Amino acid sequence: MNMKIKNLMVTGGCGFIGSNFIRYLLEQSDFQGRIINVDTLTYAGNPENLKGVAKTWPGRYVFVRADICDLEAMKKIFAEYGIDGICHFAAESHVDRSIKRPDSFIFSNIIGTFNLLEIARGRGDAFQIFHHISTDEVYGSLGPEGLFTEETPYRPNSPYSASKAASDHLVRAYHETFGLPTTLSNCSNNYGAYQFPEKLIPLMVLNALEEKPLPIYGDGKNVRDWLYVTDHCEAIWTIMKRGERGETYNVGGASEIENIVIVNMILAILDEIRPRENGKSRQDLIIYVKDRPGHDRRYAIDFSKLQKALGWEPRESFATGLRKTIEWYATNRDWSDRVRSGEYQHWIDEQYGG
Ligand code: NAD
Ligand code: TYD
Repeated sequence: MNMKIKNLMVTGGCGFIGSNFIRYLLEQSDFQGRIINVDTLTYAGNPENLKGVAKTWPGRYVFVRADICDLEAMKKIFAEYGIDGICHFAAESHVDRSIKRPDSFIFSNIIGTFNLLEIARGRGDAFQIFHHISTDEVYGSLGPEGLFTEETPYRPNSPYSASKAASDHLVRAYHETFGLPTTLSNCSNNYGAYQFPEKLIPLMVLNALEEKPLPIYGDGKNVRDWLYVTDHCEAIWTIMKRGERGETYNVGGASEIENIVIVNMILAILDEIRPRENGKSRQDLIIYVKDRPGHDRRYAIDFSKLQKALGWEPRESFATGLRKTIEWYATNRDWSDRVRSGEYQHWIDEQYGG
């Protein structure tokens, strides 16, 4: 496929995966276009994640603070920057928050995606690709055996996964009905640098370093498949370039692990690279807490379609990826202090208008 995007809108580019993707893509020799990063800067959006990018890549990177739920703002950005492709990350992304307050998930994940699809279809042939980033959580929960394939029926269990499922259906419908050139990827749990420290891995690393309790939901035996964020970025770009339009691809890390095993791995690495002053293991920080309502037991991904059709497979092993990730969090303590503090939100409002 001969795809030459000139002005790629990346939504949610100040979040965890979006910021890793922008850094990744600018380094690819087969992308020579400009990135327009559209992000409203929720608690999870952090322009610091892209510090230095505009300077390193003059003329190739623009940041616009805007909400994808604001249709008029999106229309203006499309026209002003001549958008001819979208890579859509922007979403509310944390399951626990969706249980406490689902409303923003419905707005950003469903209405926001709908707005972008509507504007993209109005651009006709000038528009080259709408890539939608989704999750394996739309498939629901697995028992001890089996893997999610692209044919697995959708059975989302949390408000988060239900909102992502709704957006996936809209993307599919816009391809079938209007011929919009879409691709969709459903990936497993990502980990790596710049993840907001409310998700399992960064939360456990920071709590352990700060001598805080490590809350394990339920019996700790829920299983997730773990995908290193740079492997995910490579998969997304591969699908955007060569994936069949209208198709869905599963992306996984071939690393199925129980939560409690991960926490024990984190503690073993921390005890080695940042030993406690008293020399004891941090195991005593683990506490078992009430389970998450509707907690999916197991996710596991069959990514053979992507492997066979486009030749992608994960490069990073969980052991090496986890070590790098822990080292990053242990070294960048000022980053995590700032993203967790209210002070950071004031700084954003001063810089970009509140
Ligand atoms: P994140 O929460 O770190 O970042 C989300 C970004 O979207 C933030 O920068 C936020 O400011 C922005 N955003 C939210 N609502 C917006 C709105 N209305 N308008 C504009 N910007 C808005 O999320 P992430 O972990 O980087 O996830 C990115 C995408 O990948 C999401 O669509 C998520 O559903 C999907 N995904 C994530 C994982 C994972 O493990 N993190 C796994 C599967 C799928
Ligand atoms: P999380 O990182 O929130 O991702 P997701 O819910 O999208 O899979 O959680 C990963 C797993 O870790 C999930 O089974 C819930 C569990 N978990 C805990 O046991 N304790 C915690 O404090 C958190 C945040 C998650």
